[in-house]
Amino acid sequence: MEDTEKNTPLPSHVAIIMDGNGRWAEERKRPRLFGHKAGVDSVREIIETTRSLGIGYLTLYAFSTENWNRPAHEVSGLMNLLQRYLQSELETMLKNDIRLCCLGDPDRLPKEVRKTLVKTIDDTRACAGMTLNLALSYGGRSELVHAMQAMAEKCCRGDLAWENLTETTISDHLFTAGQPDPDLLIRTGGERRLSNFLLWQLSYAELYFTDVKWPDFRKDQFFKALETYQSRQRRFGRIVVHLDAE
Ligand code: IPE
Ligand code: IPE
Ligand code: MG
Repeated sequence: MEDTEKNTPLPSHVAIIMDGNGRWAEERKRPRLFGHKAGVDSVREIIETTRSLGIGYLTLYAFSTENWNRPAHEVSGLMNLLQRYLQSELETMLKNDIRLCCLGDPDRLPKEVRKTLVKTIDDTRACAGMTLNLALSYGGRSELVHAMQAMAEKCCRGDLAWENLTETTISDHLFTAGQPDPDLLIRTGGERRLSNFLLWQLSYAELYFTDVKWPDFRKDQFFKALETYQSRQRRFGRIVVHLDAE
């Protein structure tokens, strides 16, 4: 899995749709929250592995705008888990030089979670070893609406001329402003859809789907995904020219 001349280099940015916690728990005749709790161990292991491989950006889809429609006890259970996770992880993030960012609308999160989130983002602001994006109350379409409103406002105020609006302007108004687009998207849990995740940023990502449910997705499965990525040929619309061909 090392970077070699033959292989596609390791991705700079990996995005993951962490799916399958509920079904993992149901298979074990346990409540869904049991699966979410087990999923936190995978989160730790994947963050640690990403950091040790020197991959600069990791984005984890933790809670979507649509997930607010789940039963109240599951939502509050997830919020409690998030709160405890953030509190317990601050020290490790600082030690490993990991900067936390939030993609999404923190205003919808419960006050205590929001406070802890803002503090963790603040405390890790100077960390430069890796950026960890947690997508929380995140929706790709809502992110685009947010960006379009901000750009429209600038146009109305005269701070942005519509004819200067480019793809870069749009990228600069997303939650991921200043970050590279994900090179690799992993979705665990067997579904093959995007579920409103990073609709703009994923336009040229390599997609990797696995039936492994998130609580079982550990270092070895992650390596497999990265190896598959490295075996892919990314052409970006071009063709490959073989130097020895006539
Ligand atoms: C993903 O697991 C975690 C969240 C969406 C918060 P799910 O809870 O969607 O698990 P399944 O898909 O029902 O198994
Ligand atoms: C996507 O999983 C959201 C997260 C992993 C946070 P879902 O389980 O909510 O997606 P759907 O409902 O299967 O599309
Ligand atoms: Mg799911």
